[in-house]
Amino acid sequence: MSARLPDHGIAWDELRREMKDAGRGDADWRGGRVPMFIHYAGEDVLDVAKQAYLMYFSENGLGPRAFGSLDKFEKDVVAMGLDLLHGGPEARGAMTTGGTESIFLAVKCARDRALALRPGAGRPRIVMPRSAHPAFDKAAHFLGLEPVRTPLGEDFRADLDAMRAALTSDTAMLVGSAPAFPHGVVDPIPQLAAMAREHGTWMHVDACVGGYFAPFARELGADIPDFDFAVPGVTSISADLHKYGYTAKGASTLFFADPASFALMGYAFDQWPRGQYFTYTLVGTRAGGAIAAAWAVMNYLGKDGYLRIARRVLDTRLAMQAGLDALGLPTLGRPELSIFAFGSPQRDMGAIGRGLGARGWTVGYVNDPPGIHHMLNLTHEPVVGQYLSDMAAVLQDPATQAGPSASPVPAQY
Ligand SMILES: Cc1ncc(COP(=O)(O)O)c(C=O)c1O
Repeated sequence: MSARLPDHGIAWDELRREMKDAGRGDADWRGGRVPMFIHYAGEDVLDVAKQAYLMYFSENGLGPRAFGSLDKFEKDVVAMGLDLLHGGPEARGAMTTGGTESIFLAVKCARDRALALRPGAGRPRIVMPRSAHPAFDKAAHFLGLEPVRTPLGEDFRADLDAMRAALTSDTAMLVGSAPAFPHGVVDPIPQLAAMAREHGTWMHVDACVGGYFAPFARELGADIPDFDFAVPGVTSISADLHKYGYTAKGASTLFFADPASFALMGYAFDQWPRGQYFTYTLVGTRAGGAIAAAWAVMNYLGKDGYLRIARRVLDTRLAMQAGLDALGLPTLGRPELSIFAFGSPQRDMGAIGRGLGARGWTVGYVNDPPGIHHMLNLTHEPVVGQYLSDMAAVLQDPATQAGPSASPVPAQY
């Protein structure tokens, strides 16, 4: 029977029990069994995020006039993010509620600029590699743009020739990811940005995953090219705080190279009886807790804290890659950050995934070529050995050998 509002309120103790029971069947993220969705950096970080969130639980980011606290926290968070991503004195930004909202707003800004520059031109296009996040297509769908996805190179990065061939006078935005979600590799941002500049097109870097991880991984030796405002021609960058910023969910940042591009993000309205309404975000009300927690966690961790965690996440990736490689399951491409995928044409990757599932692991897949996907955090660090020994056991099953009956990997997210 479907739920209905109870006639009389129920005591919190009873509700808490029921809520706890409801989670019993959930995947065991604390035990490192979930390959994405969670970005855990230790109990202390979680505790800071929770306490800061609760301190500003009721306050609303829609009201900077009433809540100068949140206004300050947001300005500080934006300034810290811009500093990490080499924003110059002209760079600007704002907090949003997540990667999808950041991408949505970047697409809106690029569209508005294209329409202003070329009034009456055709439907604006977003040109992006096939690995870009679905949020770009979602935004294009909502905002009336045409998404164009181009094939990847053999290294799973954007293929520059394919991107160039897709550019037309209607192209409003070029996209590169740092890194892209499927294989965890960083697109050649300097070359893409040069292409965008040549073409007079908006260049967006989707650093939702890497924005607060790649700067530290690079300091630790990760071999990736410049991907941020250090690259001339980068117009905007999305960077999620609720991923590798390790803060509460509901927090991302969207940055712009210059005030004119940033100005396109704002929306003002006063043609109603309640006066001037203004937001930078798509949403109106914003959880004060998410803003406060981001500020607290960033200051709690500092650069050395982020570096320490990045080192452990990178070591976890290297250990998993080495173990899987030894089992005949090589990494796809050369990821340098926190995401990797692996697979082998000698194996039925769907059958391997089912075997892991039966041993309690939640499995994420990539499909071209078939493989298994991980976005790592500190919950995975202690279970690398268990994962590899479970994998070795799964591989004993003859069903995991590739053969004519091999099924495509499941299309689940
Ligand atoms: C590269 C990339 N961009 C954007 C997003 C969207 O972020 P969100 O789920 O916070 O909206 C994700 C999410 O995993 C991502 O990996």
